[in-house]
Amino acid sequence: MSNLKARVVETTNGFHVEGYEKIEYDFTFLDGVFELQNLQLANFYERWGRCLAIMDKNIFDLYGHQMQEYFKHHLLQLKIHQAMIGEKAKSLETLTQIVDSMTEFGIIRKEPVLVAGGGLVTDVAGFARAAYRRNTNYIRIPTTVIGLIDASVSIKVAVNFGNYKNRLGAYHAPMHTLLDFGFLRTLPEAQVRNGFAELIKISSCAHLPTFNLLDEFCERLIPTKFGRSHGQNNEIKQAADEINRSGIFEMLKLETPNLHEIGLDRVIAYGHTWSPLHELTPATPLRHGHAISIDMAYSATLANTRGLLSDEQHRRLLGLFSRAGLSMDHELFNEEILAKATAAILKTRDRLLRAAVPSPFGSCKFLNDVTDEEMAAALHRHKMLMKEYPRNGAGIEAYVDASDTGYTVNAEHLINGQKLSGGASGSKESVFRNGVMNGLKGLASNSHSTRLPALQGQR
Ligand SMILES: NC(=O)c1ccc[n+]([C@@H]2O[C@H](COP(=O)([O-])OP(=O)(O)OC[C@H]3O[C@@H](n4cnc5c(N)ncnc54)[C@H](O)[C@@H]3O)[C@@H](O)[C@H]2O)c1
Ligand SMILES: [Zn+2]
Repeated sequence: MSNLKARVVETTNGFHVEGYEKIEYDFTFLDGVFELQNLQLANFYERWGRCLAIMDKNIFDLYGHQMQEYFKHHLLQLKIHQAMIGEKAKSLETLTQIVDSMTEFGIIRKEPVLVAGGGLVTDVAGFARAAYRRNTNYIRIPTTVIGLIDASVSIKVAVNFGNYKNRLGAYHAPMHTLLDFGFLRTLPEAQVRNGFAELIKISSCAHLPTFNLLDEFCERLIPTKFGRSHGQNNEIKQAADEINRSGIFEMLKLETPNLHEIGLDRVIAYGHTWSPLHELTPATPLRHGHAISIDMAYSATLANTRGLLSDEQHRRLLGLFSRAGLSMDHELFNEEILAKATAAILKTRDRLLRAAVPSPFGSCKFLNDVTDEEMAAALHRHKMLMKEYPRNGAGIEAYVDASDTGYTVNAEHLINGQKLSGGASGSKESVFRNGVMNGLKGLASNSHSTRLPALQGQR
């Protein structure tokens, strides 16, 4: 993971300490991580003879049996803490429940915990590993598009606190991340679309060939879950693999020199300037992917108005958001929201707007000198343009449901009924029961009423 090169020198009145820490971690693409013949995962745990896994409850229900068989086959003991973490339960309380499971398991100092699920589980369990004995190992298996191409690419881990998103957290790299896009075959389409927005973001600002592929395959990628749903032809899967590999690579190249986010001009912040407010303004919050798409679409109109993005590229970008079913506008997006969101982001970005825009596709410029009048004029123009698009620029399945804010048990399972049937068979004792109910406290069932009270956005 890391080793510190440090020196200590005496100064006239004391000492000076200087150190450099090496950070290294790996990613492996591997379809079928739990297939018996794939030894990569087993190899990590061979030395320990056992594994503690923190995993998303839906992933346990879908893949738990296969996972248990895998560990049994490789003669490794497996204990599973099932986590049901919606955005509301991305909390310190959920973190401490994970910590209790680690203590109960008797985790040995360098023994890696396995973390499997979307960005919520990897963020919370990753932070638990950062805090546990100050710094402990983990291995990640992301299972959502957001997880695979965004959350598990970064080394940021966090929980929400005091109504602020990701207010407490750390930079804590895992030992290894296993990227199995096969999990996407069971991911709900709305979640796939959410991740598609982040891929538009990275490609339009950093990698034109990837943008071209997204544009060419859009309608074939989203419903087929990036070519992973059953019976898909190889062409779609190949395009998806190319998109995902380049998307991750571009993000790593951009973010690695700035792992601790000291620099504030960030290409990957395209779409993340005004979006925190878009996300939370409607009574039921917008999904993250839709909020950033509104921001990206509007920013593109602003860039086009300034002559930084050609008419052709501007229209191509808007067309792609529309075809993907992503939002480009919202009735509550007005000058007042724009002004409020601008004031908020200026605080975060050290009083400069630093709004990233593609200019031209595949590269990016940062806007700092936009006046209120210019922003308002661009908004007016953007709203006029939206009239030309289906749904007037509104998105499909744009609002969060309990799977984002609370927790939705996929398929026929019901959380309020509490009996979580089906799923993995096998040794029930190997499941931490305290983990099962994580994050369920105080949550409504699968309804739109699970609004996060005044949670302030922050990636
Ligand atoms: N650390 C970072 O840099 C970073 C970056 C982006 C997002 N995030 C965080 O990630 C979180 C969002 O993560 P997410 O979008 O992955 O959502 P998520 O983890 O909530 O997963 C979405 C839903 O899909 C279900 N699910 C997950 N994988 C599945 C699969 N393969 N099949 C069927 N169902 C599946 C989950 O149970 C959940 O209901 C936010 O809290 C955000 O702050 C962090
Ligand atoms: Zn984002």
